[in-house]
Amino acid sequence: MNYIGSKYSLLEFLQNTIDQVTGLNPSDGYVFGDLFAGTGVVGSTYKERGCKVIANDIQHYSYVLNKHFLENCPPKDDSLLDYLNNLDGVEGFVFNNYCAGSGSGRNYYTDSNGKRCDAIRLELNRLLESGEIDEGTYFWYLASLINSIDKYANTASVYGAFLKHIKVSAQKEFRLELLPVVNGKKGKAYNEDINRLVRNISGDVLYLDPPYNARQYCTNYHVLETISKYDNPVLSGKTGLRDYKNQKSLFCSVKTVSSVFEDLISNANFKYIFLSYNNEGLMSFDTIKKIMSKYGEYTKFTQEYRRFKADKDKNRNIKANITLEYLHCLIKR
Ligand SMILES: C[S@@+](CC[C@H](N)C(=O)[O-])C[C@H]1O[C@@H](n2cnc3c(N)ncnc32)[C@H](O)[C@@H]1O
Repeated sequence: MNYIGSKYSLLEFLQNTIDQVTGLNPSDGYVFGDLFAGTGVVGSTYKERGCKVIANDIQHYSYVLNKHFLENCPPKDDSLLDYLNNLDGVEGFVFNNYCAGSGSGRNYYTDSNGKRCDAIRLELNRLLESGEIDEGTYFWYLASLINSIDKYANTASVYGAFLKHIKVSAQKEFRLELLPVVNGKKGKAYNEDINRLVRNISGDVLYLDPPYNARQYCTNYHVLETISKYDNPVLSGKTGLRDYKNQKSLFCSVKTVSSVFEDLISNANFKYIFLSYNNEGLMSFDTIKKIMSKYGEYTKFTQEYRRFKADKDKNRNIKANITLEYLHCLIKR
């Protein structure tokens, strides 16, 4: 999934550094925490490498993705795929609130794709409630729906706004595609604020990838959140935001980030802690170093990172720019 801050292209750097600093071998099955898990790409990689992975994210769509990647193991039955892809469209919450044809004034998906998304989402709930599928299968298909529908969104990149005219990729007819089922030890996914969860878990290696800046995930991915929860929220404004007061991250505010970060580090029951943070983040390196050094031995590793950024002047054009990505490491006393 195309996600703000995804570590997909930094996986090699992360693995090499973590292996080198800890001297641990994932195939020994150590416990790896991925507590700002997002798309789940880091945790899934560690599951595949042999670790028992604990993941967490405050966003529900991320919880669903991680629940599938970590808690489902092969073999899984994929026989529902054709059936779901052949359902007739339904005028449900997505069509009525995010598609122009319902009169919602919003244009996040074509009418036809919105109705197809509703049909699959409603059918998944029915199949689970009737006992025709188990919870693991439900989360597999729901995670796959979230991942697939995102590719048909009529947005420049995130859901902060929709485009006036339907762009080419959003015009295509929606097809549900299944996410892979990851081999490895069964892990565990949570959907909590990290500062609350960290007090109740423990492990060997903790990977932290918080937001770096003031952009809140709850507002940038609100449509996926609603498809995931399918809880008929009251929407407001032109873009149709759901209420997000309980999901505003304290890591996205310069006023609060240092204190929640220190609270997290001090309460983490993990021997090794790794923090991804780039050179444009809200916390300065001095602050990070000062906080982490209080709790043990601190080091920092760097990698050049080619980031792709939407060019604001020409909406669709993409330009590359280089940022530096850092991995701050702490061996806790
Ligand atoms: C930079 S992204 C993580 C990206 C992820 N490593 C990946 O590769 O996809 C940060 C994530 O932290 C989550 N988040 C922000 N504040 C949080 C909090 N207080 N507790 C738990 N998760 C939080 C966001 O929802 C977002 O998914």
